[in-house]
Amino acid sequence: MIWINSPQDTGEQAVYFKKNITWSRTPAKVEATVTAMGVYNLLVNGQKVGKQVLTPGWTSYRTRIQSQTYDITGLGNEITIEVGAGWGVGTIGFTHNAHFYDDIVRTAAEITATFADGTTETVTTDESWECYSHPVTYTDIYNGEVWDGTLTPEYLGKAVRSEKSYPVVPQVGEFITTHERLKPIAVITTPKGEKVLDFGQNMTGWIELNVKGNKGEAIAFDHAEVLDKEGNFYTENYRSAKAYAKFILSGNQETLAPHFTFYGFRYIRLLECPDGVGADAFTAVVVHSDLKRTGDFHCGHPLLNQLYHNVIWGQKSNYLDVPTDCPQRDERLGWTGDAQVFCRTAAINYDVEKFFKKWLGDVAIEQWEDGRVEGVVPLTMPKGRTRTSAAWGDVACIAPWEIYRAYGNKELLREHFPMMKKWVDYMHSAGSEEFLWLDGKHYGDWLAMDAGDGIYMGATPTHMIGTAFFAFSCGLVVKAGKVLGEDVTAYEDLYEKVVAKFRECYIENGTPTIKGAALNNVDPVDKKPPVIDPDTQTARVLMLHFDLCTEEDRPKLAKQLADMVVANGTHLTTGFVGTPYLLHVLSANGYEKLAYDLLLQETFPSWLFSVKQGATTMWEHWDGIKEDGTFWSKDMNSYNHYAYGSVYDWIFGVAAGITVDEDGPAYEKVTVAPVPDERLGYLTASIQTRHGKLLSHWEYRGEQLLFRFEIPAGTTAKIILPDGRTETVTEGTYMY
Ligand code: BGC
Repeated sequence: MIWINSPQDTGEQAVYFKKNITWSRTPAKVEATVTAMGVYNLLVNGQKVGKQVLTPGWTSYRTRIQSQTYDITGLGNEITIEVGAGWGVGTIGFTHNAHFYDDIVRTAAEITATFADGTTETVTTDESWECYSHPVTYTDIYNGEVWDGTLTPEYLGKAVRSEKSYPVVPQVGEFITTHERLKPIAVITTPKGEKVLDFGQNMTGWIELNVKGNKGEAIAFDHAEVLDKEGNFYTENYRSAKAYAKFILSGNQETLAPHFTFYGFRYIRLLECPDGVGADAFTAVVVHSDLKRTGDFHCGHPLLNQLYHNVIWGQKSNYLDVPTDCPQRDERLGWTGDAQVFCRTAAINYDVEKFFKKWLGDVAIEQWEDGRVEGVVPLTMPKGRTRTSAAWGDVACIAPWEIYRAYGNKELLREHFPMMKKWVDYMHSAGSEEFLWLDGKHYGDWLAMDAGDGIYMGATPTHMIGTAFFAFSCGLVVKAGKVLGEDVTAYEDLYEKVVAKFRECYIENGTPTIKGAALNNVDPVDKKPPVIDPDTQTARVLMLHFDLCTEEDRPKLAKQLADMVVANGTHLTTGFVGTPYLLHVLSANGYEKLAYDLLLQETFPSWLFSVKQGATTMWEHWDGIKEDGTFWSKDMNSYNHYAYGSVYDWIFGVAAGITVDEDGPAYEKVTVAPVPDERLGYLTASIQTRHGKLLSHWEYRGEQLLFRFEIPAGTTAKIILPDGRTETVTEGTYMY
């Protein structure tokens, strides 16, 4: 495709690229294939075409940029492509890079007419297209957008052929589309006297305005997720992201919304607003990738139902083309660790096969020759600026495997098998010890509570976590290789050696320790955690969940873990690494009741603490809002971070008991082994699998515990009841 740009650099202002097409005859069909460096919309005769927004989406642009194809038959001949900065040209990345990919916006398009006789004519972007300035005078992903409806587009001249071009691929992922429309539930005047609209739900999207004002009057607002203790509008946790919107009215009745950006918010603060414009002029439009909802859950415990609501909204908010850490502050990045932690739960809640097919493609593209995996994909800064961290880089093995389990797509697994092996090979080669990963620069048990207040990295030694994931990912390579019919004997051997070395260096008499070769670790992390301690909940969780301990040590480690939880007032101390597996480890080792105690814990730190504090999405930090209403550090305090939502993998997998057997991916073979608890009263969990709906239900009725399971056609289910009764069934409804 031919890339063009404006002859004049418009800075942060968006650009219109226009062309009036004359076909030799009336076409039977007209299709436009369009892409841009930046974010674009296609307009035909002034009307936006297609339901997709924020096109072309975000990929590793230097290697591939998606194009979208639109059927524009009969819509008109005036083609306009409007392009704003988006991810490609604006500020992006936590180091506040502007222009990481490019300095100016560009576009490339091909419009093809097909005539009744089958012949075609094609018009492409070239020097005959005309460029105009756009009423969006400022646009940036983090900072927001300014639209000036009084502005008459200025002719900038004929387009020029770009010196830079990008490899174009047809759309790989899901489209980003608009979803729910929420009206304000309250108009608040804060103690500071500011006017704030509350939409009742933390979300990702934008505000749509429906107004008629006087020409030149402005409506301006910024966005926030929470109000502070006093009830004032709080934006400090957005860090440098201004998340601002301004619309200068044209004087006509108009529907206005940002064109090239999005926001994470629940509240907006009106900074400028003409008197005649009321709250009903504002609608919050929810925006995310167009995924089909598959999981559903409810039970007799209202706080758990709210928690599931928060998990779903956490996923919706952060599955915007790329699995992001958060949608609001100056990150919104494809953090690989967050994606890894949540992908199993994600694939229960929504059909994410295509979504991951696209993003994993970028993970593979960004992987280093030596196997290193970046902390953030797509990259937003030169390679190597993020840490090659255990649990983050392991996305290269965990996500392909989980997507295979959920959807059975062997081809996708095959495509990523080289990436999986390369990642394990990297860990194998890294550092001085062959079977330990001693000297990586990691993120550790991120945001765990055990290193003290206000510290990002938990206490669990990063090299212990590194070696644990080395073994785990190596095991996944073995499993994947067997599915694919590959020879994996070398990895089987490696796996045995890493596990043996782990036992030798990290477990002594059934207790976590650091000894032998593991003492040679050099921890090059600049901000070393002040506490490095193998005696943590997370250390035991990994040893047990990844089968790194001997069977003899298993009950000892499990008991120590249970005792630690109880001694801590039935509270967890785990962070991003330990939390996803914590309840699994407890319930798998005879501590089912304690697992439920933790799940149902309402005091800090716990899942339900945030619910009690009024959360409508998952928080990044266990004490995002503390008991006294104050906040955790503004540096790292998102209220829309899905990682801890991974607890729903336990709720579906253990409480409801639905697990996909590894030899029956895509729910062809499942085990349904529910673990009920009377405190929930009842539980109903269902997953719309590729075979149909799979449902597990239990309820306490008087003295009785009743079960009902619905098994779809094409699924073989092994039902295991808590009393040990086991039955293997196929399609049908089963009650016990
Ligand atoms: C992100 C995390 C991410 C982390 C790396 C943060 O700034 O928001 O979710 O995984 O950095 O430790």
